[in-house]
Amino acid sequence: MTILATQQLVDFAYILAIALFILSLKWLSSPATARHGVLAGEIGAAVALVTTFFNPELVEFKWIFVGLLAGVIIGIPLGLVPITAVPQRTAMSHAFGALAASLIGISEYYVQTPHITKFGMIEIAMEVIIGSLSVTGSLIAAGKLQEILPQRPIVYKGQNIVSLTVLGSAVILALVLMFNPGLTVLFPIMVAVSLFFGFLLVMPIGGADMPTVISLLNSYVGLSAALLGFVLNSRVLVVAGALDGSSGFILSVIMCKAMNRSFTNVLFGAFGQLQVSAEKGKEERTVRSASPEEAAQIIGSSNSVIVVPGYGMAVAQAQHKVREMFDILTKKGIDMRFAIHPVAGRMPGHMNVLLAEADIPYDKLIDMETANSEMAQTDVALIIGANDVTNPAAKTDEGSPIYGMPIIEVDKARTAMVIKRSLNPGFAGIDNPLYYMEKTLMLFGDAKKFVSDVVHELSGGGGL
Ligand code: TAP
Repeated sequence: MTILATQQLVDFAYILAIALFILSLKWLSSPATARHGVLAGEIGAAVALVTTFFNPELVEFKWIFVGLLAGVIIGIPLGLVPITAVPQRTAMSHAFGALAASLIGISEYYVQTPHITKFGMIEIAMEVIIGSLSVTGSLIAAGKLQEILPQRPIVYKGQNIVSLTVLGSAVILALVLMFNPGLTVLFPIMVAVSLFFGFLLVMPIGGADMPTVISLLNSYVGLSAALLGFVLNSRVLVVAGALDGSSGFILSVIMCKAMNRSFTNVLFGAFGQLQVSAEKGKEERTVRSASPEEAAQIIGSSNSVIVVPGYGMAVAQAQHKVREMFDILTKKGIDMRFAIHPVAGRMPGHMNVLLAEADIPYDKLIDMETANSEMAQTDVALIIGANDVTNPAAKTDEGSPIYGMPIIEVDKARTAMVIKRSLNPGFAGIDNPLYYMEKTLMLFGDAKKFVSDVVHELSGGGGL
């Protein structure tokens, strides 16, 4: 086959990969088609990868195999982490993606210098700055989520000025290099300054804002990959990077809305102004608790139940028992639906994934707005391992770190039942006034065990 024919085939395969990436994103936007989306994305990535080996421009395979081997060795354990550790795993994946993009940009600088054009230099500099800050930013985010680093915001006076000065220095170095690309000594300094900026960007961010940061870093890595596509003249990389960057950006905006955070603050890392007021509300207050038998009686005699799943359901892996409860209640003619908060759990779509795994019909999932509009007519709001996303302090306590975050207003239901093991706080580290309300019943225990006991009672095992 001639080089021209091979090149045409390669181009065709890349277009196919691009189409698959676009379809993947489209399908991923709905739980009903999400599995197809994952498959399309995987096939697209495989097509792009294999095609690259046939690219006539490729002359050296040795280092690609070394890279592949290193990727497999690191990727297998990363892929095997439990679902509860997926956010920090995602942050690590971003760090590796950004590292790869930065290293290629760095090598391109040394390969192309001194014959590099002004435009080429600025492309490389932007790519390397964004890639490098994403490396350290993602590593810090992973460390915070894994609790190796403190989750609280690390803030100090004049922080924004320091951060902007550091970023400004990287940009100035890039501009100097644009006019004098031969000043090779400046390039590693620019990389080091950018790495330092990534650290400054994420350290002041508190745990409650971490989901938004992860998706924003995702968008930075995509942007860096798209810029690298321009540097390498690779269309598939430009498109894949742009899709990654824009979808991460859209997700960040959606999450900012869901958590009522200012997007500008998130974009510039000016988080963490609010300190956790965990000490508040520590005075002695009483709660009402109930046994599985009592809970089953109330649930079994209700007409409507809205389940609010949260992180604890994932920890306990209670979704299959929840499905059993759904089957029993549906048979009894009780309307049971699932209210999904956009940041419930530890990753976007966490609850959707768990409920889909248990084959809960998609039409039984309702969004926060629908749930809130129907809550006052609902007999039982059954909270399974959720905490922050139901915390009324978000509406009433201006000093609370989650103040302003929209919540699922379970306190409006006739009865609120909360399955969790203790009165311990959730991710945001704050007390939940819901637990002390008159209409609330605490169902203390592991979510899987408790739901299983309720199912047992509902199915007549307890002699009901
Ligand atoms: P959380 O507020 O974190 O509360 C989860 C609750 O689950 C805890 O209070 C815990 O109480 C309970 N729990 C843990 N293990 C359990 C078990 N085995 N059985 C029963 N309960 C158990 O969860 P949420 O309401 O889903 O809110 C999510 C939080 O995570 C938000 O603050 C959000 O900002 C943050 N976040 C979200 C994401 C995304 S993208 N979703 C990513 C990172 C962080 P006990 O210890 O008393 O059992």
